[in-house]
Amino acid sequence: MADTTRPAPAAADELKTCCAALYESDWARLLLGDSFHPGGVALTLRLGEALGLGPGARVLDVAAGKGTSAIALAERFGCAVVGVDLGADTVREAHAAAEAAGLADRVRFERGDAERLPFADGVFDALICECAFCTFPDKRTAAAEFARVLRPGGRGGLSDLTRSGALPPELDDLLAWIACIADAQPLDRYVACLAEAGLPVDLVEPHDDALAAMVAGIRTKLLGAELLVKLRKLTLPGDIDFARATGLARAAAEAVRQGQLGYAIVVGTKA
Ligand SMILES: C[S@@+](CC[C@H](N)C(=O)[O-])C[C@H]1O[C@@H](n2cnc3c(N)ncnc32)[C@H](O)[C@@H]1O
Repeated sequence: MADTTRPAPAAADELKTCCAALYESDWARLLLGDSFHPGGVALTLRLGEALGLGPGARVLDVAAGKGTSAIALAERFGCAVVGVDLGADTVREAHAAAEAAGLADRVRFERGDAERLPFADGVFDALICECAFCTFPDKRTAAAEFARVLRPGGRGGLSDLTRSGALPPELDDLLAWIACIADAQPLDRYVACLAEAGLPVDLVEPHDDALAAMVAGIRTKLLGAELLVKLRKLTLPGDIDFARATGLARAAAEAVRQGQLGYAIVVGTKA
């Protein structure tokens, strides 16, 4: 896949760090809860089914966030899950969540970059990457890493934002990048990217409704938070530009309505 929007290396590192920091913030939890992707745990379990997970499977969750998906997969399918994320605090929280769930023997987390996965070749039976592939500045390298760490016959599943055609300019700034929107790719680009990496795709499932519901939920929470801050009933860490955040959420909702933004599951198998 030609990464036409690929930022220069320094900008790419800044973007990744910025993304990890935002998802570590109290804001992310306030607006998104514990599961940082459309469809939440239900869609994660659907992805687990599509991957054919079962007891004993070794699963990698790339950009695992606070560990909610890894824990849910381990509980439902009896598999062992390793989560990797760029955020050090995120990894600590995920580890604590696995311990609290009594799953520390089967679910663990470590810090790492999706574009340089800290694992040997062929050690995983399956891999998921939810709502994060679209933020990776070098998607081709990340996809190649996915294929490298999977065993032959292993399955890799993305769940991610998709776009059709150009997005409105208000969905193209730094906040939109971090919110996973600005570099969302057309569905066929994800399919091509996985195929080029050696993971030909055998399943594509649209889940646009999950994205519409998530954006609606964020808009409601933003409005509520702004009101409570104005009434001095809520104090939030740092300054937030409510106008910019609500503008972004409004533009995203419109783009979903117009079919410019969507959400999908894409699964490929390593030959
Ligand atoms: C939208 S959140 C998704 C988290 C999780 N997959 C979920 O669905 O709940 C994006 C996550 O990607 C992580 N991230 C961003 N760039 C990364 C990279 N290059 N390598 C590993 N993790 C990354 C962030 O730290 C953040 O936790």
